[in-house]
Amino acid sequence: MYILLMGPPGAGKGTQAAELVSKFAIPHISTGDMFRAAVKEQTELGKQAKACMDAGQLVPDSVTIGIVKERLAQDDCSKGFILDGFPRTLEQANALDQTLAELRINGSKVVNITVPTEELVARLTGRRICKGCGATFHVMFNPSQKGETCDKCGGELYQRADDNEETVTKRLTVYLDQTKPLIQYYQDKGIYTEIDGLQSIDKVLADIVTSLRGE
Ligand code: AP5
Ligand code: MG
Ligand code: ZN
Repeated sequence: MYILLMGPPGAGKGTQAAELVSKFAIPHISTGDMFRAAVKEQTELGKQAKACMDAGQLVPDSVTIGIVKERLAQDDCSKGFILDGFPRTLEQANALDQTLAELRINGSKVVNITVPTEELVARLTGRRICKGCGATFHVMFNPSQKGETCDKCGGELYQRADDNEETVTKRLTVYLDQTKPLIQYYQDKGIYTEIDGLQSIDKVLADIVTSLRGE
């Protein structure tokens, strides 16, 4: 199962990917998570990525394409993967097509989770993430049963640096300008499905699974 999970910032890509990983036992590849890991490790990539992420802008295509190419060539991706947040530009989509062809991977499916903009701002500004296990919560829509700490591992919850209202607004504009055009790109290829992301987390998951199984 080769899944390209798309959708605007806050649509629920990470939340759904976590569920799909346990269902299909394939790796979750999130470019955002890769960049955040590099920021934490203070690598050169991390320094470059941090400046872009804090500004709500995309990391340059050349850099992003390079790290995804390397990741997809690893053994654990041979039977499937969930790509979360890549591609986000037409240049990335073209590079991905080329990489998949080189790796002889056919049959990838695009799942786009759609959510109206007003809802996205509320989702992003209320999001909390666990420092220990990376689980995603929302103060209103998906709270941890333990309140301020993670109900899975007891870890401390934090807010992402780019989840303030100003940066969120920029991220949403960048999405509309640079990423939304990919819908047409994948519709033209006939591998595109849209899922209503305004439903409950469980219902969104059920719809994704149904669409992936071609039911
Ligand atoms: P990235 O980390 O990918 O951020 P994003 O695309 O902005 O998406 P998010 O992670 O914010 O949202 P999500 O869809 O995963 O939602 P989640 O499940 O957490 O990228 C960050 C930055 O890295 C970019 O801005 C860019 O700078 C850089 N970058 C990354 N990829 C790049 C690329 N390919 N090219 C260039 N630069 C790149 O859910 C959000 C909240 O909503 C949570 O609180 C959750 O609990 C809640 N929620 C989820 N589902 C529901 C539901 N059904 N109902 C109610 N609440 C829900
Ligand atoms: Mg995410
Ligand atoms: Zn945790």
